[in-house]
Amino acid sequence: MDNATLIEQIEALPYWYHKIEITDGIVTPGWAPINQDAYKIPSNLSGKRVLDIGAWDGFWTFEALKRGAKEVVAIDDFSDFLGTLQKGDRRSWDTFDLCRSALGYAEECCKRVEMSIYDISEKRLGRFDLVFFFGTIYHLRYPLLALDLISSLCDGEVFVESAILDDYSAFQGGLERGYPGKQMVMEFYPGNQYGENESNWWSPTLYCLTNMVYAAGFNKDIEAWKLVERPKKLSSCRGFVHGRKT
Ligand SMILES: C[S@@+](CC[C@H](N)C(=O)[O-])C[C@H]1O[C@@H](n2cnc3c(N)ncnc32)[C@H](O)[C@@H]1O
Repeated sequence: MDNATLIEQIEALPYWYHKIEITDGIVTPGWAPINQDAYKIPSNLSGKRVLDIGAWDGFWTFEALKRGAKEVVAIDDFSDFLGTLQKGDRRSWDTFDLCRSALGYAEECCKRVEMSIYDISEKRLGRFDLVFFFGTIYHLRYPLLALDLISSLCDGEVFVESAILDDYSAFQGGLERGYPGKQMVMEFYPGNQYGENESNWWSPTLYCLTNMVYAAGFNKDIEAWKLVERPKKLSSCRGFVHGRKT
C-alpha cells in the first residue's frame, strides 16, 4: 500500500487510542500517553510467545513483535468507551488490522481474538512466556480471578500496568489525598466515581497490586514502581508491577 492510501485509511477510521508508528513518519493519531521507557519491557523479546490483554489498537502487540517476539496473541472485548465514546467509535479490530497489515505482520505470528479475559484458557490460546496486562485490571469486576487465569496459562512473566491509589482517592478528596506507602487498599466504584467511566470498577494501591500479582503465583523477583513519582493529574496516577514464576 502506498503512503497516501495508508494515510487515507488511517483517517477514515473514527477513533484511534494509540499512537502507532507505521512507516516513514506515519503515526496513527491516538492520544494515549504511553511512556514506553517507564514500563521497562526488555528490548529483546526474541523467541517469546506473548499475550496482550486489552490490546485496543495494538500498540503493545506491535511493540512486542518489533522487539523480536515470535508470536503475539492480542485479545480485547471492546468494552471500554472511556466514559465518552459512542458505540460506533470502536470498530472492533479495524484499527488493529490496518496496522498489522501496514507493518507487514502475518496472522500466524500476530493473532487477534475478540474475547473477554474471563474466557482465556490454555485450551483456547495455548501457553505463554509473557503476558502484557496494561490499563485493564481496573476495568474488571473480578481482578483476582483475572490474575489467576493469567497465571494458569503463563510459565514466565507478567507485566501489569494500572491506575493506582497512592496519590489519589475518589472518596477522600482526589489528588494528593490517596493512600501512600504500604497501605493495602483498593477502592470500589459502583458507578462512574473513577474518571467518570462506568467501566472502572476498582483501583488498588501499588502495594495492594503487588500483593495481588504475588498471590496469583508470580512470586519470584517481584518489582513495583510508580510511573510518575508526584502526579499532578489523575491520568498520571499509575503504577507498574513485574512478576515472574521462575
Ligand atoms: C484503557 S484500555 C488499555 C489499552 C492498552 N492495553 C494500553 O495499555 O494502552 C483498556 C482495554 O481493555 C479492554 N478490556 C476491558 N475489559 C476487558 C475484558 N474483560 N476482557 C478483555 N479486554 C477488556 C478494553 O476494551 C480496552 O481496549
